Amino acid sequence: MSRSNRSLMKKALLGAIVGTILIGVARALAFPPVFQRMFFIYAMLGVVVFVLLDAPALKPLSGMDALVALVAFYALLSAVYIGGASLLPQYDPEDEKGKIDKLLKAKREKAGHELKNLDQLMQQAEALDRKTQELAARLNRLAPASTPEAAALPAPKPPTGGMSLVARGMEVYELHECYNCHKIGGKGSVKKRGPVLDNIGNLLTIEDFKKKIFDPAYLYAEGFEKEHKKGVMPDKYKDLMSEEELDALSAYLSTLKNPSVETPKPVFVKTKVEHGLLRDLSAPPQ
Ligand code: HEC
Repeated sequence: MSRSNRSLMKKALLGAIVGTILIGVARALAFPPVFQRMFFIYAMLGVVVFVLLDAPALKPLSGMDALVALVAFYALLSAVYIGGASLLPQYDPEDEKGKIDKLLKAKREKAGHELKNLDQLMQQAEALDRKTQELAARLNRLAPASTPEAAALPAPKPPTGGMSLVARGMEVYELHECYNCHKIGGKGSVKKRGPVLDNIGNLLTIEDFKKKIFDPAYLYAEGFEKEHKKGVMPDKYKDLMSEEELDALSAYLSTLKNPSVETPKPVFVKTKVEHGLLRDLSAPPQ
């Protein structure tokens, strides 16, 4: 083997060793694989530079030849750089912005949609309230003196009072992202991580909701024993939720009474707690 060949081998070997060490260090520092490869490529580029240092000197150029050679060299280098760079993954701020916009757009649309739903509910509640007031007035007109009970009928509560608690509960449900695991009205968790809640108001009392939300071990939904054991339903709400939020959320859940949607039955596991399930089912609706 000639002298220059040996030196070439030595340099290539050295480059490979340095490159491998760089990969090892990058991996230990948890750099992504693409960076690890890039560091190795840098070591190889270093080898090329050292090999070039040993290359035989070029014939000196002058005049027009020198100019042409310089421009050609510049063009070649640029081509290599641009070509090489385009092979590597690029960070494009426009691309990132697009992604963020898309995320935000979905959120904004959802928020707008929910507001519209809420508006509709409010309007319905107000219309109902007007109707009850009309009916009460008519009742009074028909039999003002003979039926003192009718006259003493309590003035209907302003709809916003009861309404806003439930609306607030809906908001809390969204805020704490219960929909990540639960489905109501066909909306929410696509992966079926938790039970459907459409009819849960017929199965649990407000007290039960409060207990379940602050202490998921309180009960489990039938058919979700495994998830319950694994503690899928987060145990964090007692730290994250205020009493006001808990009250509103529980009030909202207690309005979910749609028996046509099969909703897993609760199984109470903490025996000494009074869940009031039977009492509530047999009691007339309030
Ligand atoms: C990470 C998933 C997850 C999140 C988030 C979650 N839950 Fe659950 N939840 C479950 C699972 C799984 C069950 C069934 C097992 C169990 O009861 O422990 C369940 C059960 C329930 C039940 C009992 C249902 C039944 O049919 O008996 C209620 C009520 C409930 N969750 C309400 C909520 C509310 C309210 C929130 C938001 C504050 C919430 N969950 C957030 C996973 C979740």
